[in-house]
Amino acid sequence: TAPDTVSPTGQPTGADQARMAQSGSYLTNAQGTRLYDTDHSLKAGPRGPVLLQDHHLREKVMHFDHERIPERVVHARGAGAHGVFRSYGTAANVTKAAFLARDVETPVFVRFSTVLGSRGSADTVRDTRGFATKFYTSEGVFDLVGNNIPVFFIQDAIKFPDVVHAAKPHPDREIPQAQSAHDTFWDFVTLHTEATHHTLWNMSDRGIPRSLRTMEGFGIHTFRLVDADGGTTLVKFHWKPKLGVHSLVWEEAQIIGGVDPDFHRRDLADAIEAGACPEWEFGIQTFPDTSDQTFRGIDLLDPTNIVPEELAPVQPIGLLTLDRNPSNFFAETEQVAFHPGHLVPGIDITDDPLLAGRLFSYLDTQITRLGGPNFPQIPVNRPHAPVNDMTRDGVHQSAVHRGVAPYRPNSLDGGCPFTAGADAGAFVEAPVRVPEATKVREAPASFDDHFSQPRRFWLSMSPVEREHIIGAYTFELGKCYEQAIKERALRVLANIDPELCAAVATGLGLPAPEPTVPLADVAPSPALSQVGHTWPTD
Ligand code: HEM
Repeated sequence: TAPDTVSPTGQPTGADQARMAQSGSYLTNAQGTRLYDTDHSLKAGPRGPVLLQDHHLREKVMHFDHERIPERVVHARGAGAHGVFRSYGTAANVTKAAFLARDVETPVFVRFSTVLGSRGSADTVRDTRGFATKFYTSEGVFDLVGNNIPVFFIQDAIKFPDVVHAAKPHPDREIPQAQSAHDTFWDFVTLHTEATHHTLWNMSDRGIPRSLRTMEGFGIHTFRLVDADGGTTLVKFHWKPKLGVHSLVWEEAQIIGGVDPDFHRRDLADAIEAGACPEWEFGIQTFPDTSDQTFRGIDLLDPTNIVPEELAPVQPIGLLTLDRNPSNFFAETEQVAFHPGHLVPGIDITDDPLLAGRLFSYLDTQITRLGGPNFPQIPVNRPHAPVNDMTRDGVHQSAVHRGVAPYRPNSLDGGCPFTAGADAGAFVEAPVRVPEATKVREAPASFDDHFSQPRRFWLSMSPVEREHIIGAYTFELGKCYEQAIKERALRVLANIDPELCAAVATGLGLPAPEPTVPLADVAPSPALSQVGHTWPTD
């Protein structure tokens, strides 16, 4: 067996192979000492008391006792797959990212998830789905940590703990696992009306996908691409499934939730094993990087907004194929650590206040979830680019660093050839001008319109999709105990559309209120409907 070492750059060595399985001709303990029996404790006689000196017993049980790590605080239940991303090169005029140059192939790991259920919950609940992709590029890891719904509940990350507390099961009874059928969820989304758009998507067929293979994915936030000359372009990222967008109907979702709670993860793994490898086209909507960061009156920093595809078509820039199932769920799907701040040269962030909070939160939670600061060394998280950093030590350190001077400049380890300053391959933050401003805790006025975009979504639905939405609101609100919350929800629906409001009110046996704001004059966007959904390269 190879010696138990990991190289200073964190690359795997023979030790990982040695731990692959119980494949050797004999078992050892964790110290490599050969065992002759792992089925019986050491006892004072066959019927006598077990002896404290049985180190093998204590080591084996001790390790088992610590097998569980905390589940993710959100997105706890997930399914992952390995794959490859092939770039068309069509984004090369707007970004210098090497993995987006023509014909570049980049290994990826994708984790799909539900948001609110615990690790053991059912797959087909009504919920948002996570769609997180780790690109192991030649310039470092790029993570696109997106969802299957293009908007988010809140506009500022400071409310994230609040929306999650409201949407997770009630603290007293720990029910329900399903997202929205309870009072605190509806209390929050009707008091924070910026949540109206995301909630409407959840109540539509998008909340119950047929398969992980038939979901769209969205980066949601506006990102900033940087080209080789330093020119910048604002973008929104999209994943378009080659199989088309398909959903379950509610009755199917409920039956499957009982008959096969693992329906989505089984479907994904079975499809890949059978060679029916799912594919998504990666696409971007591009917008000029103007100082106000709006496009046709839409605030690009507001994550409750989409930009309709009629106004900014999605341009295909590459193809994702998932072609290999993880061989160990814990090692890969459970321990993978995504972060919206894992960026590569050519892709940068914008000032979306929701994104800002995410940049802090993921790193922070992973220190707890993965037991210390060295989780980038876990195999699934290791970059495929060389790592030469100055972090040292810490719990679970597995690199054996050489040298004595992890600082620069130094006069002991060859001086560290690295010189500060931007070279061609470095990630350099786009030099965006920050306006002179006064510190405030407030949102811009452009974040105030909470109903026009939900109205556009509703108007874009086909009759059968509308019927499903009405059924979903009626079912989910019907589970609320508080009459006042149902009535408030109807007042929100009245501001989306009187017909929607009236139908749900009838279902709940309540009167339909009048709108409190003028109904927005918006045109339908056919791309939002699953019925008419097409994709340019089909
Ligand atoms: C996890 C998406 C907003 C905190 C995740 C995951 C996804 C995701 C897909 C699962 C990653 C995985 O599979 O391992 C999103 C999207 C958001 C959003 C699309 C909005 C556009 C936020 C915000 C916060 C947050 C505002 C906090 C301020 C977290 C945390 C986790 C998580 C703590 C668990 C990460 C881990 O344990 O590794 N999110 N999220 N998210 N998200 Fe978000």
